[in-house]
Amino acid sequence: MVSKINKPRIFSGVQPSGNLHIGNYLGAIIQFVALQDEYDCVFCVVDLHAITVPQDPDSLRKRIIEVARFFLAAGIDPAKSIIFQQSDVSAHAELSWILNTVARMSDLNKMTQFKDKAGISEDDSKFLERMKVKIFDSPPGATIPKAAKNFYEKASNVSVGLFDYPVLMAADILLYDTEVVPVGDDQLQHVELTRDLAKRFNHQFGEVFKIPEVKILKSGARIMALDDPTKKMSKSAESENSRIELLDSPEKAAKKIMRATTDSDSIVKLDYKNKPGISNLLTIHSLLSGKDIKELENEFAGKGYGDFKKAVAEEVKIFLTAFQAKYNKIDDNDVRRILEDGAKRAEPIAKKTLQKVKERIGIN
Ligand code: TYM
Repeated sequence: MVSKINKPRIFSGVQPSGNLHIGNYLGAIIQFVALQDEYDCVFCVVDLHAITVPQDPDSLRKRIIEVARFFLAAGIDPAKSIIFQQSDVSAHAELSWILNTVARMSDLNKMTQFKDKAGISEDDSKFLERMKVKIFDSPPGATIPKAAKNFYEKASNVSVGLFDYPVLMAADILLYDTEVVPVGDDQLQHVELTRDLAKRFNHQFGEVFKIPEVKILKSGARIMALDDPTKKMSKSAESENSRIELLDSPEKAAKKIMRATTDSDSIVKLDYKNKPGISNLLTIHSLLSGKDIKELENEFAGKGYGDFKKAVAEEVKIFLTAFQAKYNKIDDNDVRRILEDGAKRAEPIAKKTLQKVKERIGIN
């Protein structure tokens, strides 16, 4: 085992909610692999986060193993990094509860991921922000604007866990004295909340938590949907054509790239504002091939989108073929052992922090 003395710690997590895609890989997992020599890394399969939306128990069990296999196939070395399942270390749920008493409803009301998942429209949300409507404080019988009603109705139908999700994420990060959190840019707001909660707790009870920094890649932080490049590529989008899944057959993935939405121009150029589709494909190509964007723009100057898409599809095929060959060689029993061993290594670190927290608040 490699010595971890004095290496700063990294923590990150991935939900076992299925359909892991090339965005998860290029925005987050690729960073995990690159950072594991420089940092003391803890990577978590966050099953308690996944159950904030309905899950089929048998599928969930399979997906927990699947995410750990993705980590291993991507190149995370369990001898260097801890890989474990969140629910195996009960300190996550315990600290989350304690942090719930530090977090405010107003903190969580600002979180956009909860609103996205609850199906609350951006317009309603912006309207409420402008009006500063406090739905939870409205006196009985008060006239509530339509946007507030929509918000309230949608919010009423999702679990409290989904609303509270960012507090559990803060607990994950803070338990491990984490210094750096590598994520895609959709998680930035959650890491900022984590920092705020840590500072608030430290201020109230004395220094316990390290204040973590977020690490977001310049390129790859937000891979966009293939069928609508103005939206983020997501596991939960209805259309399969929106994403390249890590277990898609290379041929199926190539077809999705060929069908990807682009503009009606024919110039291959990075311009996120006017050419979001082509810019997204350029980013994917560049990250997979290692060629820089300028080099690709020159290579495809004067050629049409058809040739360019074929080249992107080819890179995706090469990547998936190699990735899946590694994935298929991994035995599930080995994965289970790695997760068990990971939990044994994670637990003492987490317990130590939790103990300090309990002492400070007077419940030890
Ligand atoms: P999750 O499971 O949704 O996504 C896993 C990681 O993939 C990144 N990601 C993307 N990156 C680039 N382009 C995209 N289209 C894209 N879609 C997703 C996410 O930013 C994430 O880094 N809340 C987290 C899981 C979590 C966590 C944590 C992360 C729980 N506790 C503590 C860090 C630290 C999530 O839902 O990730």
